[in-house]
This record gives sequence, structure tokens and C-alpha cells, in this order.
Amino acid sequence: MLIAANWKMFKGPAETRAFLEGFDPPAGVDVILCPPYASLAAAVESGRHTIYAQNVHWEPSGAYTGEISAEMLHELGVTGALVGHSERRQLFGENDEMVARRARAALEAGLGVIACVGETLEQRESGDTELVLKIQVEAIAFAAGDHPNLALAYEPVWAIGTGRTATPELAREAHAFVKGILDRPVLYGGSVKPENAAELLAQPEIDGALVGGASLDPDSLAQICRAATS
Ligand code: PGA
Repeated sequence: MLIAANWKMFKGPAETRAFLEGFDPPAGVDVILCPPYASLAAAVESGRHTIYAQNVHWEPSGAYTGEISAEMLHELGVTGALVGHSERRQLFGENDEMVARRARAALEAGLGVIACVGETLEQRESGDTELVLKIQVEAIAFAAGDHPNLALAYEPVWAIGTGRTATPELAREAHAFVKGILDRPVLYGGSVKPENAAELLAQPEIDGALVGGASLDPDSLAQICRAATS
């Protein structure tokens, strides 16, 4: 079971070190922490957890202001990256082609990748969930195939940071659909908390969780990790 913590634009290096001092997950669960770029070095220093970035560019270097390459992440000791998070897609204009290029380049450079997909509320309500997931997952599958270092995260956009979680049944259906297109582990994300983690993670199609808000507190993240082992 894999529990990944997406810290988004929270925690500078000092807060990252403080978190790591207080974070004590149980054995038997793989933990990945995804701090902001500025805190990656501080997180790697602790040497205790797998550290991923929140994004990665497809070129090794070049005139791409604001971007970071897989080679740079390697040099820091970072072993993977998220790509295609819905905040990147919605707020920063990333499309399926960019997400696919990011995923392929990172995997080719030897990084692990968690590629995020998910529908908006409008898309769900208009009955387009499967169409949207198919387009997003096929773009990743076309670029990256079923690479062993690739995982997916199903994150319904309407459940992110809203306190509104997908029901286990709804999440299960979406995960089964995604796996039918690309047979890789699929994490669930969207308002995962200590209170709902066990029920979600009990679904056979759910291989772990991508946790935002509830991953910022070390005790809360450790509780979610415990739910993953039970
Ligand atoms: P959330 O975020 O747990 O705060 O809903 C999840 C994510 O955006 O990855």
C-alpha cells in the first residue's frame, strides 16, 4: 500500500524539517512525501522517506523559466514526481500532451511518476466522467506505457480540498475503469482523512492514497498510514 503526501505550496525547509522530526509512520506502508521544490533538499536530508517533486519538465535543460528537470531532481536525491495534478491542469493551463510528455521524460530519466487524472463536477454531472478519464489515461498510456515505475492517481476534482469525498463505491468504479485502460497501481485522492481512509483503502481496486490537506500534520498522515496497514 502506497501513501503519497502532496504538500502543494505549504511548508518551507524549516517546517519540512519539523514535520520529519514528528512523523513516525508504521512499518509495512510505502510513504512518498511531495514537498514544494524549495523544500526538497531539506526533505531528502532526513534520509528517511521517499521524496518526490510535485512536477517535472520534459527537457533536461533549456529556456523554460520556472521549470525543473528530471536530471536536477536526481542530483538532489529526489526519486520521482507527480505529474498532471488537477491544480496544474486547471490553474496553470497544463494539457494532456504536456502531462504525457512530463511522464515519459521522467520515467525515461529513471524517476518514479504518479500521474493524476480526474473529472470536474461539471463533467461528472453531464455524464462525461468516463470519457474524460479515457482521454486523460490514454494520453499517459500512449506516452509512457505500463512502465513499472508509473502509478496513477484518480482524483475527482470536486473532491479535492472540498471535504467532499467520493464514496468507496464511486471510487472503486472509477479505479476499475482506469485500470481497464492502463494496468498500473491507482491511488485515490480527494479529501482523504484519518476518518475515511480505512474504508476507501479497503476497496480492492484502490492501491493507496494521494493526500493533500490531511498530510500536512504528521500525526494525521501517520494515522492514514496506519489505516493503510490494517
Ligand atoms: P486534498 O488534496 O486531500 O486536500 O483533497 C488531494 C490532492 O490534491 O492531491
